[in-house]
Amino acid sequence: MEQTNYLPQLTKQVTDFLAQHPKAYAPCVEALKALVANEFKALSLATNPITAQVEQLSNGQLAFIIIEYAGFSQQAIHFLLDAMIRTHDWPKLYEEIQENIEEEKGKETEGIPHLEMMRQGYKIDLGLDTDIEDVVYSAVTYAFLKKMRRIFNHNDNAFLAGALLALEGTAIQEFHILDKMVKTYDERKGNGLVNAPNITLTNLYIDGHKDFEIEHEAHLFEAVKPYIQEDNVHKMVRGYLNVAITMNVWWEQLYAESYRKNIYELLAFKDVAWYQVSQTLLKDA
Ligand SMILES: [Fe+2]
Ligand SMILES: [Fe+2]
Repeated sequence: MEQTNYLPQLTKQVTDFLAQHPKAYAPCVEALKALVANEFKALSLATNPITAQVEQLSNGQLAFIIIEYAGFSQQAIHFLLDAMIRTHDWPKLYEEIQENIEEEKGKETEGIPHLEMMRQGYKIDLGLDTDIEDVVYSAVTYAFLKKMRRIFNHNDNAFLAGALLALEGTAIQEFHILDKMVKTYDERKGNGLVNAPNITLTNLYIDGHKDFEIEHEAHLFEAVKPYIQEDNVHKMVRGYLNVAITMNVWWEQLYAESYRKNIYELLAFKDVAWYQVSQTLLKDA
């Protein structure tokens, strides 16, 4: 089992990168993207622990992971909002985040927020309820969301810019990973969502984002450009890699957590042999 064997190598790559990354903005972002694509295995469709081994995962495990992932999708707009509030003194970046939030709220989807599309799509097409009130996330997802929220509340704009670039930069692969999970789940259930003659909300949500996200990353790249120089580029690098490692580790944890849940269920039993306390204490009653 290859799972997580790459983490020592990843640590070395990050150490080396911090010591000698490009100092100019554009080559540095390029180098960050290459580092993530090559070394952060869970962030690529081919090597993500869930999609690489999707055939071995049960539909119960997939349902669990899709719902947990929806927890991240639901929080992402709050990450943007937090970052926007903090970067008010970098107006180009502020406006770009604001634009992104407007899009999330439905600017280009007839006023329908992306998350409504996702929630109703998952419910109707997959039979999965991801409404926030009804879901209790696993401890790993709870910790992940808390860490992400802290990253996007950082008090340094260059760090935040890096975090945002990573969030947008990883989003394209993430939607391909999500697509693979959702389609596998749906195929097995025989719902016929994948080859549906009419487009479904879930397909609209996922396929739309594969396009949206390319633009997001490109626009964000331009919006950050005027503010990153040699003296703050190392902070941008740290924000970028913080998001990448937090997301990468979460995927590995989700994979393990889905098995932990399965194995715990196998081990569970109900016929507990009680010591009959009443026979001892209340024998005369
Ligand atoms: Fe969106
Ligand atoms: Fe985006």
